[in-house]
This record gives sequence, structure tokens and C-alpha cells, in this order.
Amino acid sequence: MKKNGPDIRYLFEPRSVAVIGASRKRQKIGFKIVENILFSKYPGRVYPVNPAGGEILGLPVCASLDDIDGPVDMAVLAVPAKFVFQAVEDCARKGVKFLVLITSGFSEVGNIEEERKIVDFARDHDMRVLGPNIFGVYSSMAPINATFGTREVSPGHVAIITQSGALGLAMIGKTAVENIGLSAIVSVGNKADINEADLLGYLAAHEDSRVILMYIEGIKDGDKLVDVLQKTTRIKPVVVIKSGRSKAGALAAASHTGSLAGADEIFSDIMKQCGVLRAESIQEAFSWCKFLATSPPPRGENAVIITNGGGIGVMAADASEKYGVHLYDDVETMKEIFADAVPAFGSVKNPVDITGGATATEYDRALRAALKNDDIHSIICLGCETAVFSGAELSETARTIFSEGREAKPMIFSFVGGPHMDSSIAELRSAGVPIYSDVYEAVSCFGALYANYRNLKREMATPPAKADKDLAHIDLAAIERIVSGAIEDGRKSLISYEAAEVVEAAGVRMPARQIARNLDGAIAAGEQIGYPVVMKVVSKDILHKSDIGGVALDLLNRDEIIDAYGAIMHNCRTRKPDAVIEGVEIAEMVREGLEIIIGARRDPSFGPIVMFGLGGIYVEVMKDVSFRALPVARDEVQAMMEQIRSYPLLLGVRGEKRKDIEGVVDTIMKLSQLIETCRYITDMEINPLVVYEQGEGVRAVDARILISKATR
Ligand code: COA
Repeated sequence: MKKNGPDIRYLFEPRSVAVIGASRKRQKIGFKIVENILFSKYPGRVYPVNPAGGEILGLPVCASLDDIDGPVDMAVLAVPAKFVFQAVEDCARKGVKFLVLITSGFSEVGNIEEERKIVDFARDHDMRVLGPNIFGVYSSMAPINATFGTREVSPGHVAIITQSGALGLAMIGKTAVENIGLSAIVSVGNKADINEADLLGYLAAHEDSRVILMYIEGIKDGDKLVDVLQKTTRIKPVVVIKSGRSKAGALAAASHTGSLAGADEIFSDIMKQCGVLRAESIQEAFSWCKFLATSPPPRGENAVIITNGGGIGVMAADASEKYGVHLYDDVETMKEIFADAVPAFGSVKNPVDITGGATATEYDRALRAALKNDDIHSIICLGCETAVFSGAELSETARTIFSEGREAKPMIFSFVGGPHMDSSIAELRSAGVPIYSDVYEAVSCFGALYANYRNLKREMATPPAKADKDLAHIDLAAIERIVSGAIEDGRKSLISYEAAEVVEAAGVRMPARQIARNLDGAIAAGEQIGYPVVMKVVSKDILHKSDIGGVALDLLNRDEIIDAYGAIMHNCRTRKPDAVIEGVEIAEMVREGLEIIIGARRDPSFGPIVMFGLGGIYVEVMKDVSFRALPVARDEVQAMMEQIRSYPLLLGVRGEKRKDIEGVVDTIMKLSQLIETCRYITDMEINPLVVYEQGEGVRAVDARILISKATR
């Protein structure tokens, strides 16, 4: 039976460490780890373990873990895979808390069983496993560098969790080049036991870790990760880089919810939901982390651009729009603030253009004016090299203003020019000034800063907790009966009228409908429901009814029902001769409105998710859809809807009235509850859901539901 395990703190702050597979041979990983631990001035006890005994770097070597006198919090294992399990048994006897399993050769090469066996054994003995297939863990809290990477790690405020070993080792090197200090770097490798969610719990509370950077390749325990990330981003920024954006990684799925977007789009949307900042590249991630770790938080949204070049100013304004940075636009106040700093032929609108004739004096004046004014919350300072002043002068001004104002408000600089400018940039950078030669890179850091600012301000949206959700409107018994019946039939999907009943049992209104076994029944149903009606063939063997001419729309009277019945029977018999036809469904013809698609599915990484998008015939082409992980709060559903490009259609375009957005949110919430409650349902969608004007509601036209016994 799995126990809760030891406090994760002892992974970052172990009081004693054993290195199993410690070696005297300098080229061996088992040597390097001992060397790095000693170099990092780790204050706890270090026990190298090797059957040969002797000494390594002045430390006595224990022939076995049993020979160690005193407790061991963490054991780093660097022995070949075939010896690992035995070493883990030794660790259990010793009462070790954390196993840092460096060794490769487990699930990453298909050796899944051995990995499982090790983890199960460890968990049963109250131990947790980091890895396997990792380079180790560095923590400035202990401090300890229990990795076989470089020993030159400077302590600082960025914590890195990485799934890729080689890239992680390279990142340590890059942090040195970029002058980024680390509070921790943890290699998670195969994530057989400990994963990002476990580590975030500690790092979120750890004050010295001001920013957390994660490099992710694949998700394990996605629902737990979402929960922890949502809490963490309300405390500090989390930046993520994820590989696998290509279409090759796209999901192959039988429903729109799966096929309208690849796994990567779903990942992106769920990260957005969690308030995580997704970087496009390592360079971007590092720029953000460095900036976020050092900048003060802004006190408000108003950013101002100060520039001596119109072009570069416009580029920064474009970048501000792209990265969600709000440019202060109170023209009158701007005039007052900058009147003395800008020549008459310059511009006091944002971007503030102090013109190509500006020297260090004008920069100084404009920057000080912006710093002093409380309506301006952050400053983007741009500079193009001109003949009237040197890079060195500008550099001096930037350095002075930055050191005076760095605690007061966020500032970022971007200078462009020749070799002199480049060397000024390098100098300023080594002095800790956030400066970039690329305007977009500079503004993207501000984008990250503001995204984090909004996260911190965000109220914790309360999704309905699973336990106390109001399920009163869901007829669970009816759903269970329909779905179990289909499963017993060996089916993987529901027939459309069954799907309609399930959706209706979840509280979503479907068109009035009746099943007719013959023409007389169809005529009677038409009379009863009231014209116009729709006729659809009912057959377990025909999934795509309209493709074979099994659907007739807008039937206005008895005669049209007779004609349509004949045509549908003829089409089905000729195009699907083996299909068993049970009859036809006569349904109320739904009045036209804006067609959208909503769906829900069980995602392999994140568990139940919901989808929203523009529906109708263009859905496949536009792929204008968005996703959220469950459970989800109403305001997050609203954010999911606002995210798609065609959202303005719901607000009403060209004189149209606003649509019933609340009705859509209600329906998505109902669908969410349905997929969370009914574990047999793997995929479902309502397409189209017709949305009418505000107050007039929505109508589900067609529902599609896929089922599987395995998910219960
Ligand atoms: N307890 C303690 N020491 C043991 C032992 C045990 N049960 N069994 C063997 N050893 C000793 C060996 O005698 C050897 O010591 P020596 O150098 O003094 O002879 C040492 O442990 C290492 O064993 P060895 O067989 O030499 O293995 P290795 O050093 O060549 O390789 C690994 C071991 C773990 C490094 C290797 O198996 C591996 O997995 N490498 C890949 C690691 C990796 O890339 N991880 C992912 C990074 S991102």
C-alpha cells in the first residue's frame, strides 16, 4: 500500500546524503557527483558507498549502506540498472527518504516493469523516487549540487524543473552565461514517481525561488498538475517550455473535441487556464525568468514607451499589443508629464518620441518625468544610435536612471546600433540592467511581467468542487440505463436518439422528437410535434446519416413526410444494404441562429476537458476552438469562449444583437458535469448548438457520444 511518503523538503534540504556507486575514477558519474557535492559546500554528512571501500576525495567510503552510522535522508544511485533494485532494498533497510535515481535503462528503453517494481517497492517502504534517467538535483537551500553537471552553479532566484536531462545540463551552463542565479534545478527524467506537481508544492512556498521554469515533454498526473499550477501561479510566476508543437504529435481521435486541435493546442489552453506563461524558446524563457526574478511588480497597467526613433517606437507598440502590454493613453496627462522633455516637433503621445536629435540630457529628463509620475507604472526605453550622441552616453544615462528607479517601477531597455552600441548593451547587461537588442524580446518580458501581475490579482475562481456539485438536474439513473445498455450491446457510440436522451437527462434541452417504426407512425409524429420537422433514419449500423441521404430537413406537411420517408428508405437500402433499419426519428426543426460546437472528452494527459468553438459547416476549416481542463469555474468558461477569434459573433456584429452567452456557459457547465459524473463517456459533443439572442436561450440540435467500458 502506498503511503504519503516523506516531506518533499528533504529532497531540497537533505541533512545527509549517500552516493551509491561512488567511484574513485574521475571520468565516472559516481565520482563527479561526490565531487560536485563537496564543491557546493554541502554542510550535511556525505557517505560515498562502494563495495571496494577506501577513500574518495578525502572521504572514507562505506562498503555498504548498512555500515553507515546515522540516518540518511537522500541516496543518489549511480549503479547500473541491474543493481538498482538491490540498492533500493538496502535503502529501505536504512530508512532513506529520497532516492535520486541517476541510472538510465528503464521505461525510456521499454524496461517498464523493472521501473514499476522499484517505485512500488520504494513507496511501500515510505521512500520517494526522483527519476530514473536523470542528472540529479541542485538546491541552493541546502546548498547541495548532487548532479553530474557543471559544478559552477550560481545561487539565485530561478528554480528549474526539467524533463530532459541533456537539455537540463545545457540549461545550467546557459544560466551561467546569462548571469541567472538558480535556487534549484531538478531533473525529473522518466517521472516514475516524483513529478512536477510534487516539486511545485515545495517551490511555491519557497521564498528564494521567485520564478519557476519547467521544461516539459509529456504530462503525467495532468489533473493534479493543473490543480497545483493554479495555486502556484497565484503566488509566483511559472514559465513553461514544452516540446512537441508539431502536428506529428496531434491526437488521432474520433470526435471533434479530439481532432479539431492537437495535444499541443490543448496543452497551451490549459496552461493559460492555470496562469502559466508559455515561452516559445529557451532564449525567451530565460529572458522572462531573469526579468521576472529581478523586476519589482508593477503597481498598475500603464506602460510608457520612450524612444528617439519613430520606427522602433511603432515596433514596440506593435509588440505591446502582441504581448498584452497596455500603453498609457491619457493624452492630456501625457502632455503635462512630458511637455518639458520633448521638443515641439516630437510627440508626447505614447510612444513618447524625443526625436532623433535627442541626447542623453533629453533621455534623462523624459525618463525621470516618467519615473516620478504615479500614473505611469512601467517604462520601456528605446534607443537608436544617432550621430548626435554616443552609445556610451546613453548607456551611462540608462545605468544611472535604472539604479535610481529599479525598486520603484519596472523598466526595460532596448538599444539598436553598431559595434559601440553592442558593447554598451553588453556592459549594461553585466551590470544587471534588463537590456535587449531586439525590441520584441524586451517587450515580451513586459508581457510576462503583466501576465503574472494579472495572475496575482486574479481571485481564486471557485470551480464547483466534485463532492458538492449540484447534480439535482442530472437524471443519473436514465443516463446509466442508456449507456449501460449500449455497452452491453458491445457498442462504442450511442445512436443519435440515445445521445439526445443522455444530453437531455443532463439538463440540456433537445428538440422534441419521436421514433416512428413505419410511415404511419412518421405522419402521426409529424402532426403531433408540429411542422416544420426533420426526419432522420434510425439504425445502429449507420453512423453518418447525412452522408448516405438518411436525413431530410424542413418538412412542412404530411405529403413532404411521405416523400421524405420513401427517399430515405430508398437511399439507405441502396447505399447501405446490410444495415438494419429500425425506423425514422421525427424531430422538431430548430429555428436558425448562430451555430457553435461544444464538446467534452477524456484527455489522455489531463483527464476530462471541455471544448468550445464556432460551429457550422466551417468548423473543420476554421478550427477556431478552445479548451479547458475540469473542474472549471463559470468565469473560466467565459474566458475560454472569449479566446476564440470568432467570439465577436456572439457579441453581435453589424447591428446584430448580443447572443445568449449565458445560455452557452450554462450548457458547457452541464456538459462538464456530465463527463465528470458518467465515467463511461469518453467523448461527446453538441454540434450544432444554436444560440439565439440574449434571453432567448440556446438549442442543441445534434449530440454525439462515444463510450467505453474501460474508463470506469
Ligand atoms: N553499491 C555500490 N557501488 C556499486 C554497486 C553497489 N551495489 N555495484 C556496483 N558499484 C560500483 C561499481 O563497482 C563502480 O565503482 P568503481 O568505478 O569503483 O568500479 C560504480 O559503482 C559504478 O558502477 P559501474 O558498473 O562502473 O557503472 P558506470 O559508472 O559505468 O555506470 C551509471 C553507472 C548509473 C552511470 C550508468 O549505468 C548509467 O545509467 N548511465 C547513464 C546515466 C544518465 O545518462 N542519466 C540521465 C542523465 S540526463
